[in-house]
Amino acid sequence: MARLRLLHALLFQISILVIKIDAVPSSLLNSDYQQIQDHCFGNEIDPDRTAFHFQPSKNWLNDPNGPMYYKGLYHLFYQYNPVGPLWGNITWGHSVSTDLVNWEALDLALDRTDPFDINGCWSGSVTFVAGEPVILYTGIDDKQRNVQNIAFPKNGSDPLLREWVKPSDYNPIMVPGGDIDPDNFRDPSTGWFGQDGYWRTAVGANMKGRAEILLYKSQDFANWTRNEFPLHESLSSGMWECPDFFPVSLSSRDGLDPSVNTGNIKHVLKFGLMKTLRDYYLVGTYDEKKDVFIPDEGYEDDYRTWPVLDYGHIYASKSFFDGKKKRRILWSWVNESDSEADDIKKGWSGIQTFPRAIWLDTNGKQLIQWPIEEIKSLRKQQVQLRDFELQSGARHEITGISTSQANVDVEFELPSLEGAELFDDSFLLDPSKLCDEITPSDKGGIGPFGLLVLASDVEGLEEHTGIFFKVYKNSDKYMVLMCSHLRSSSRREGVYKPTFGAFVGVDISKDKRISLRTLIDHSVVENFAAGGRTCMTLRVYPKHVLTGQTSGLYVFNLGSLDVNIKELNAWEMARARVNIRNDEFISKDSV
Ligand SMILES: *[C@@H]1O[C@H](CO)[C@@H](O)[C@H](O)[C@H]1NC(C)=O
Ligand SMILES: *[C@@H]1O[C@H](CO)[C@@H](O)[C@H](O)[C@H]1NC(C)=O
Ligand SMILES: *[C@@H]1O[C@H](CO)[C@@H](O)[C@H](O)[C@H]1NC(C)=O
Ligand SMILES: *[C@@H]1O[C@H](CO)[C@@H](O)[C@H](O)[C@H]1NC(C)=O
Repeated sequence: MARLRLLHALLFQISILVIKIDAVPSSLLNSDYQQIQDHCFGNEIDPDRTAFHFQPSKNWLNDPNGPMYYKGLYHLFYQYNPVGPLWGNITWGHSVSTDLVNWEALDLALDRTDPFDINGCWSGSVTFVAGEPVILYTGIDDKQRNVQNIAFPKNGSDPLLREWVKPSDYNPIMVPGGDIDPDNFRDPSTGWFGQDGYWRTAVGANMKGRAEILLYKSQDFANWTRNEFPLHESLSSGMWECPDFFPVSLSSRDGLDPSVNTGNIKHVLKFGLMKTLRDYYLVGTYDEKKDVFIPDEGYEDDYRTWPVLDYGHIYASKSFFDGKKKRRILWSWVNESDSEADDIKKGWSGIQTFPRAIWLDTNGKQLIQWPIEEIKSLRKQQVQLRDFELQSGARHEITGISTSQANVDVEFELPSLEGAELFDDSFLLDPSKLCDEITPSDKGGIGPFGLLVLASDVEGLEEHTGIFFKVYKNSDKYMVLMCSHLRSSSRREGVYKPTFGAFVGVDISKDKRISLRTLIDHSVVENFAAGGRTCMTLRVYPKHVLTGQTSGLYVFNLGSLDVNIKELNAWEMARARVNIRNDEFISKDSV
């Protein structure tokens, strides 16, 4: 009987929760978002606006902050300028979602209201303390210093977590001491809890030219003491920002709670390097007794040898443990590469990557990144190629779907590895330069072969973006080079059009196959090679769409050897509902 009652109670709770989730988000929104809805609705008006990537309805966005799953909702906060499309006046924007695909905008979560954050609410994270989310973030205080602050939900029973309290008797909780550069002391990580009963958080700092990931400890999460030693330090690479420190399983793709430090695991320290504006990560071991992170063998204090999270256009990424589906999910800021004048014209700047599940490869060395499975809900019409021979010099158009909003999965198969050009060790130093030297008239051995996306229909492909591979022979093994050419991506003035390159960490000699997954969304192209081992995110601004032209998608092979397309699947993607208000909810009374 008692059991039955419990079951009833549980079922009752579940149904309430479901109703709540379905009903909440769209009705409780910030009225500021109403006016600008028309401005950005639909693609006809703004061809660069994305359809299924996270972005606010207008204005500047940079780093993702404090992502979490709480009471049936995903939350994403982000660095946000509420009054303009350029960086400045930084606050925490806030959106919620039930599926990580469709998002509803809420009021600002943190604004510049107190002496300890009056000049900006910069990046930070969320930690669950006794089951409730707590924000740690960097404030720029009234003396223009970086300080760390804490904020609590005003009402933890509200799944929307709309209001946050920054107690003035606690804040700031960390101030730059004598040896810390007050301009470079920021981005507290999600906390983790040790066997000794202390919480920890990692903070990036510049210590007279040395990069340190400082470790702070606390018993109550409010009163923090700096540890004598940093979690990790580097002498050679300048300031490290946005540290993210988390355990990864060696035997499963499941994510782990940040406090797990037993079992078959490794730890990952991920960070942004101000010097290169790229995100890197180190895999290693966390010694909880000494409170230090020890990278695995093979990593020297030389950033040129560290794995880059994404070889394209991302920065300041942030991951979180999704307790609902037991996975770790990564967000990354993708900045614009058009001109400031264009950003002012568009009224917005900055998007987030599509959320990626991340886990450690079975080799224990590489992070794998893969768009979360929820992306499938956006798939519309599909076209397919199977065992399609792409002869030397061939270019083949994929037709039947609209391709400016698409997901392409392709697997290339090489009949043989004979004839690959010879590898030179100097290639490793600068793969982008190597990619830059590849031209259409340069007939390689194996490759270049790959995709041309967002191509104008005009004969000669005046505008197009190329993502392609080339295989080299290095004594007894083969090296796969991945490249992106943006040089013809746009005829618009003032656009930054770099070439990106990277060697893909994959052994192609076994099955002679290499896969590429590409998400195309108007002005962003995310690329995942070899099942997510190497990622390259691009920003492109094709001009041909302004004249009503549709964009083309092609597979091509400029190598002197034929390539087989084992399988290609391409889907047209639906538009997600991202931070756009619904007219039904415009009335202030409903807020
Ligand atoms: C910051 O806000 C002030 C006051 O609203 C405004 O004058 C200024 O232009 C803003 N700066 C940026 C970069 O948007
Ligand atoms: C807290 O939020 C819950 C759920 O939304 C609500 O029922 C309750 O009235 C709120 N409490 C206060 C004090 O606002
Ligand atoms: C903060 O923690 C330190 C070290 O644990 C302790 O000495 C100090 O008394 C604490 N301060 C407060 C206000 O609790
Ligand atoms: C943003 O874009 C510019 C090119 O427009 C680029 O040079 C810069 O490194 C990018 N990244 C960041 C983090 O600002």
